[in-house]
Amino acid sequence: MYDATRLTDKVAIITGGAGGIGAATARLFSQRGARVVIADIAGDRARAVADELPDALPVEVDLASEDSIIAMISATIAHYGKLDILDNNAALLDPDMGPKDIDIEHMESSTWDRTYAVNVRGTMIACREALPHLRSTGGCIINTVSNLALQGHVIQAAYSSSKAAIIQMTRSIAASHGRSGVRCNAVAPGMTMTPALKAAFPEHLRLLVEDETLRNQLGAPEDIAEAVAFLASDAARNITGQLLVCDGGAASHVPGYTAFRTAMGF
Ligand SMILES: NC(=O)c1ccc[n+]([C@@H]2O[C@H](COP(=O)([O-])OP(=O)(O)OC[C@H]3O[C@@H](n4cnc5c(N)ncnc54)[C@H](O)[C@@H]3O)[C@@H](O)[C@H]2O)c1
Repeated sequence: MYDATRLTDKVAIITGGAGGIGAATARLFSQRGARVVIADIAGDRARAVADELPDALPVEVDLASEDSIIAMISATIAHYGKLDILDNNAALLDPDMGPKDIDIEHMESSTWDRTYAVNVRGTMIACREALPHLRSTGGCIINTVSNLALQGHVIQAAYSSSKAAIIQMTRSIAASHGRSGVRCNAVAPGMTMTPALKAAFPEHLRLLVEDETLRNQLGAPEDIAEAVAFLASDAARNITGQLLVCDGGAASHVPGYTAFRTAMGF
């Protein structure tokens, strides 16, 4: 029986495919029948994830480098002969960026430039290079952003604004390429408990963010993978130019939600 959520025989590139959400997405895509390219700056970890999956291709790529992105697309076409799905999931999340990316008054231009080089320019070049191939397969793009792109915060001014830029890029691509059969959507995770975050994020702050979710539970990488796999599938054929927020409702409610509940004893 036809199942529109299947990804049978689709070829998908997952950037950052060796990381928490990317690896979960690669495993789910593979279970649903796709052949996946695990594209990551961490070549060893990309090979380890690819080794788990049938007919997966590890590719070492640095999204800060135009040549490297062009080589990633070429390697995919050389190996599989086509491209159906581009999942732009990687982002600059190096631990050394945390203390540097706080507010604009204290922002060094180099922090801003590094963030935009990977997140915005890297995503743009990957889309540009993928589009001719996606046109010939009637394929799609999913850009991973963040619920921090939707609200102001006291931290991550460069990261959050780079993700907001990607949301607008998503709409532009959808508008320009819809008539050629290419869809483009974005997924905005809230805080998601990847192995990297579990290891590094302070417990008292985790509880604070968790309390802002309407489920009183942070998402898992598999929750984001489900949203990406849905948008990548034919089940979402009528959805393009959209942002799917996958954050347990954290960005959906009134300000002071937690304080109000506490004051009311809810
Ligand atoms: N985990 C969260 O709480 C959360 C929340 C909101 C948004 N996101 C977004 O989800 C996506 C995945 O995040 P994650 O939590 O799985 O991160 P992660 O750190 O676990 O994985 C990110 C992967 O991207 C790779 N990468 C980094 N720079 C790269 C580059 N220049 N070229 C190629 N690959 C590169 C890393 O090696 C890593 O494997 C990111 O876009 C992130 O901004 C995550």
